[in-house]
Amino acid sequence: MKKLLLLSFVISQLAFSQFTDINIVKEIQTKDKGLVVSAHPLASEVGAKIMKMGGNAYDAVIATQYALAVVYPQAGNIGGGGFLVGVKNTGEKFTLDYRETAPEKASKNMYLDNNGNANTDLSQNGRLAVGIPGSVAGLFATLKYAKLPMEKLIQPAIDLAEQGFSITQREANLLNSEKRYFDKHNSTKTVFQKDIPWKQGDLLIQKELAQTLKLIQKHGAKGFYEGETAELITKEMKLGKGIISLNDLKNYKVEQRNPIVFDYKGNEIVSMPLPSSGGILLAQMLTMSSFQKMEDYQQNSTEAVQVMVEAERRAFADRAEYMGDPKFISDPTHMLISEEYLTKRWRTFSFNQATPSAEVGKIIPQPKESTETTHISIIDKEGNAVAVTTTLNGLYGSKVVVSGAGFFLNNEMDDFSVKPGVPNMFGAVGGEANAIQPGKRMLSSMTPTIVLKKGKPYIIVGTPGGTTIPTSVYQSIVNIIDFNLSPNRSVNSPKFHHQWLPDSVLVEKDFPDTTIVALEKKNYKIQKTAQIGRIELIVIDDEGNATAVADGRGDDSVAVE
Ligand code: GLY
Repeated sequence: MKKLLLLSFVISQLAFSQFTDINIVKEIQTKDKGLVVSAHPLASEVGAKIMKMGGNAYDAVIATQYALAVVYPQAGNIGGGGFLVGVKNTGEKFTLDYRETAPEKASKNMYLDNNGNANTDLSQNGRLAVGIPGSVAGLFATLKYAKLPMEKLIQPAIDLAEQGFSITQREANLLNSEKRYFDKHNSTKTVFQKDIPWKQGDLLIQKELAQTLKLIQKHGAKGFYEGETAELITKEMKLGKGIISLNDLKNYKVEQRNPIVFDYKGNEIVSMPLPSSGGILLAQMLTMSSFQKMEDYQQNSTEAVQVMVEAERRAFADRAEYMGDPKFISDPTHMLISEEYLTKRWRTFSFNQATPSAEVGKIIPQPKESTETTHISIIDKEGNAVAVTTTLNGLYGSKVVVSGAGFFLNNEMDDFSVKPGVPNMFGAVGGEANAIQPGKRMLSSMTPTIVLKKGKPYIIVGTPGGTTIPTSVYQSIVNIIDFNLSPNRSVNSPKFHHQWLPDSVLVEKDFPDTTIVALEKKNYKIQKTAQIGRIELIVIDDEGNATAVADGRGDDSVAVE
């Protein structure tokens, strides 16, 4: 790896006392220092500062998530849920599932109208769209791996909420464009609504959120799931069609799960199991494309894209048919990632032309998933690694802010198949395995992933992007391992995506025309989109030099300890 850059202006940011200077840092190379990559510079700086105070990667990830709940309200959250994949320097691999769950009063047909049609407005917007939040319980479960007390880890977020911070141009644009939904779904004016449009540099102060964070600081997870905050959540439910009860909140449980672990060309991939489809899809796609000589192709060449698209098509057909919360279905993981099954699945692949989606799976219309999630990748100087993806589902979730508590609630219920066969907000189609049941976790696409080489962290990666998450993580890994690309090129070159249904290849606007023309000749339908995902990547070479890259598609930023 080339010369190590430790930029002095990055270090000067560590001692922030005000939150009005927003310095976005896209890449840092270092050795023997902790690195944090997240969607917002202030949140990454909080994580780095916590490591400077003696915290490890798990302390940093807790503090960064709380900070994102303040400075990145579109997706950072305490009102949503997420998945954490960790590898300790002892070699221990673990995951935490703090996905939302369906409330006790939820039922399979709760979003169907009298004619049996799915009312996706109800599953996507307002109080009935909310799943029981898991994030705060998840952060307390993470504490087992951390060194510092929660009171310290939450304090930077309290300061950011109380003192306010300058919003970026992107956040201002989003708050302005979503205002009509905030107006519609809130009964009192929230801090996110203004009479004149937001602009870059405006201070966003969140006193109610600061108060909620202080209750968590004082009472632990009970400061959220019981008492004043729980009362405010259930009161908010009653202002509309919401069904979350005090019992639902009190009974929320984090699940510690064994990660999906598989070999890819001598590297060990560690990723998230069900109820996220991410790890299974990643294993399926990497295994199927390894049946071809990927290392002989160029990134985004016709051959490489065709092989990867066909692997994606087959994996997403399986997602629709087989995947859901493993507590409620017979767990299909072992069968789906077995070499024997995937070899059979790959038999219909041909370089001559596209395989029609109808030939690889029963046509089950898929729910369309939202792309507004957020990811954090962290390595510390002791060699602990963590990848966390967390979400409200849609942009600002259900658009409902808990009155008196100041945070957005998720609209994660839409990730269930609200009517098996009807696409969710990402266009993903779900079947019976992902039907709504009380206490069940909705299927996710989040794919926090750590790749190990000789037992040590090599790649830490993840992204937002709904159904494009697993395919973006897939491309990042192939870009580095097969195409030998630099971390920066791996993150910032144009991406593509296929999800079985709709049967078209989504490509970013600057995707190479020559590949598009060649694919169209083979019967692929191409659809252009502005951008796919925002990857947060850390790559550590054999000598221990680490490069962290924050995606150029957003305000994402790297910070060093
Ligand atoms: N709601 C996005 C996901 O779970 O993948």
